[in-house]
Amino acid sequence: MSRTPRPGKPDRSESDRAGQARHVPVMLPEVLAALALDRPGLAVDGTFGAGGYTRGLLDAQPEVQVVAIDRDPSAIRAGADLVAASEGRLRLVQGRFGDLDALLADLGEAQADWVVLDIGVSSMQLDEAQRGFSFRQDGPLDMRMGGDGPSAADLVNESDETTLADILYHFGEERRSRAVARAIVEARRRAPIATTAELADLVAGVVRPEPGSPIHPATRSFQGLRIAVNDELGELVRGLHAAERVLRPGGRLAVVTFHSLEDRIVKQFFSARSGRAAQASRHVPGVERLVPKSFKPVTKGPVLPSDSETMVNPRARSAKLRAAERTEAAAPDPLTAIETLASLPAAQGRGTRR
Ligand SMILES: C[S@@+](CC[C@H](N)C(=O)[O-])C[C@H]1O[C@@H](n2cnc3c(N)ncnc32)[C@H](O)[C@@H]1O
Repeated sequence: MSRTPRPGKPDRSESDRAGQARHVPVMLPEVLAALALDRPGLAVDGTFGAGGYTRGLLDAQPEVQVVAIDRDPSAIRAGADLVAASEGRLRLVQGRFGDLDALLADLGEAQADWVVLDIGVSSMQLDEAQRGFSFRQDGPLDMRMGGDGPSAADLVNESDETTLADILYHFGEERRSRAVARAIVEARRRAPIATTAELADLVAGVVRPEPGSPIHPATRSFQGLRIAVNDELGELVRGLHAAERVLRPGGRLAVVTFHSLEDRIVKQFFSARSGRAAQASRHVPGVERLVPKSFKPVTKGPVLPSDSETMVNPRARSAKLRAAERTEAAAPDPLTAIETLASLPAAQGRGTRR
């Protein structure tokens, strides 16, 4: 069967961000407006990064306390000065936002008033060659945000060809996924693929650059591997559900995404939870049942960055913000439909599409 790529924009972030030393927060005024920090309360920044959103949260309301989370230990270390300057208003913890409710419980907090997630990698992660995210600078093929678990080199050298092709196709939206996977398997028979430059050259030997496009042929393959290494879509699904569990009635969740795979998950989650889509019953397959509305939309459709922002920060070009407000309804069962969007066909028990 031929592979038709899912509609979606390529992740332009790497070329856009080349040369930037510091992460510029994307759509910060729009995020703060969507959250509406108009009272004392607890805000959770699930993706601390360089602390751009956390600073915005602290500045927005003097009586807001912030818990900021990042899975990257270097982001946590770099945030120490901000914690010190916050006069006890900021607690910074290493962990995954998918475990947000457990991380809050460890701090003695059962509920939150605002949660914000800014999905993806930071400029610092991309710019540091040793982290192995970049095809523009040579470095070890790593890509682990948290430094734990299998690296991109482990996936590339140990996954079977079908799994590799599925990762590149589903998470990277690479049309030539099977050809790239085949080239990887052939190359690693000679010697393991150890660096970003080796992989980028190998992909560039198979995928032609699109005429006139500034996008490097390896962009999609690197995106696919990065998403797989960090289970980014699974984390997003768990993060949305965890936020739903911790938010108080009237609390708000804002999520900024950078490509269509992520945005589709957020859109479907909010749509299902705000009653605009019925949820399939877990108990009676094929039957839909009404679920209580646990969120009501705050934004009508996605909010996009202004032209003036994209002029000064091209990375913002592909950003989309969605936000919703928590209702009184108890959190329903996890939404299985979006779990499916976050996993490869083999993990869904359906085998591969070939
Ligand atoms: C796009 S940056 C956030 C930038 C931040 N909003 C700012 O203004 O500086 C994303 C950050 O989220 C972190 N991250 C990605 N996935 C995560 C997860 N599942 N749990 C916790 N942190 C995560 C990354 O390590 C990275 O530092």
